[in-house]
Amino acid sequence: MTTVDSVLEPAVDVLWQRLQGQLADIAQRYPDAALASSLAAEDMVLTHAIYEGGFPLEIFTLDTGRLHTETLGMQDAVRERYGRSLTVYRPDAAAVDAHVNAHGAYAFYESVELRKACCQIRKVDPLKRALAGRGAWITGQRRAQAATRGELPEAEHDPVFGLYKYNPLAAWSEEDVWHVIRALGIHYNPLHDQGYPSIGCEPCTRAVRPGEDVRAGRWWWESSDSKECGLHAGNRVISVVAATEKSTSV
Ligand code: ADX
Ligand code: SF4
Repeated sequence: MTTVDSVLEPAVDVLWQRLQGQLADIAQRYPDAALASSLAAEDMVLTHAIYEGGFPLEIFTLDTGRLHTETLGMQDAVRERYGRSLTVYRPDAAAVDAHVNAHGAYAFYESVELRKACCQIRKVDPLKRALAGRGAWITGQRRAQAATRGELPEAEHDPVFGLYKYNPLAAWSEEDVWHVIRALGIHYNPLHDQGYPSIGCEPCTRAVRPGEDVRAGRWWWESSDSKECGLHAGNRVISVVAATEKSTSV
């Protein structure tokens, strides 16, 4: 286990050590588990922990075909830094063509339904392929990121994709993530320095203004309760169950 007491603040070092214990446990229980990496800050922390910790866990990314150049460049940054290549899953080209031919290349701005249809083809269907046959997957989600993630457990059964799901950074704050990145010199997407705390596809992400919510730049033209793309559809189920339990217990 890597000890980094000399560079991490004690409270964050506790989180970092705990993360390594969580990854060891996941690797032991589910040797075929994989990290889904969007190549954003949280996923780079997990990537560093997995590769530097020597955990035999695969890391894959979903290349939607609409990512920023900076995000695509992070695949090379990972290869250069760790000498490892991410597994890349892409959408079915025929499905993309059919959607674009029927609705246009920017149909996601027209309605939530068309936006979700695009996310289904470019993200959710490739994710299904990436998860097929695995016992578990790992994400970089945090509770503080969104209302839909407020009840996020560190480990859960994913009812949508039918396997175990780990969110080891669930309790981490944004400050924790950036402290680890800076203290350990972890590479990160340069868009984070240009006002993008949360990064998705290029046409569906904008920089946030001072004081705005971290996910304000994601699908900014939609209301905040529709801002999930289907990768984590179970979050809403859990949130609704939790909200119902809270309201019936008073
Ligand atoms: S999203 O659902 O709104 O797009 P977000 O960008 O917050 O998700 O990322 C949350 C987690 O979802 C990431 O930490 C990562 O585990 C996974 N994820 C999101 N986008 C991708 C992607 N393109 N490829 C792989 N995993 C992704
Ligand atoms: Fe399509 Fe936008 Fe969803 Fe990316 S985020 S898959 S471009 S709708």
